[in-house]
Amino acid sequence: MSEPDRRVALEWRESGRGEPVIFLHAFPLNSAMWGPQLAATPTGWRAIAPDLRGFGASPEGTAAVYTMELMAGDVVGLMDRLELGRAVICGSSMGGYVAFEMWRLFPERVRALILCDTRAGPDSPEAARARERLAQSVEKEGNSVVVQAMLTRLVSTTTRYHHRGIVDTVKAMMEETAPSTIARALRGMAVRRDSESLLRTITVPSLVVVGAEDAITGRGQSEFLARGVPGARLATIDEAGHVPSIERPAEFDRVIAAFLARLPQAAHA
Ligand code: MLT
Repeated sequence: MSEPDRRVALEWRESGRGEPVIFLHAFPLNSAMWGPQLAATPTGWRAIAPDLRGFGASPEGTAAVYTMELMAGDVVGLMDRLELGRAVICGSSMGGYVAFEMWRLFPERVRALILCDTRAGPDSPEAARARERLAQSVEKEGNSVVVQAMLTRLVSTTTRYHHRGIVDTVKAMMEETAPSTIARALRGMAVRRDSESLLRTITVPSLVVVGAEDAITGRGQSEFLARGVPGARLATIDEAGHVPSIERPAEFDRVIAAFLARLPQAAHA
């Protein structure tokens, strides 16, 4: 995707001043999932959390399928509007798929990568068919279908039983997403490209983060990423599921802050 006219002008939240870190949310959530990170942005960093197209406050645009390429183009469009040359890109799950496309299409805009609870491989034909079935159900019956299918699997056992407030926050984000956005993003994820061979081309500092109880992506996928990306380190967040940034924010933030602190100085501010 390179035609600027097909880009959607994303809305975003931000906090802090300094070098940019862009946080890309998971499906079917929105930039609010990064609330804890925006509240605790390390000194010297500017945290920017866009709503990907159709999610949160961002407009839907006209594309029937939200490919990861389109979403990556939107993020670069936002970087252009904010006059950011390069940024650290931190993507969670679907946000990680978008981060891979940013590396593939716009590597000069990526200063470092943080890949959270995501995977490099494409959908199997069976998984893609299941996504299409889910997209059609959501279009007919509304997004409660997705909430039912995903909510309990998104978080760890500890979160589910001891942190009901977190479960309610995640549920509210899922419920406020338009069914049409959910369906278009499901179809986009179903056709996402295989990024496995891309891993060895990644030359920027990279961190892989995974919740120890991630039932959606699975720890094995993160281990695969950490083995595949030259020099990448794997951080496991205990007692967290698929969204450790919300489930164990203090622990997650410590890992991110340590990674950011070790990055080579930016060539320009
Ligand atoms: C996500 O959290 O973004 C989704 O679980 C990704 C996916 O469905 O592959």
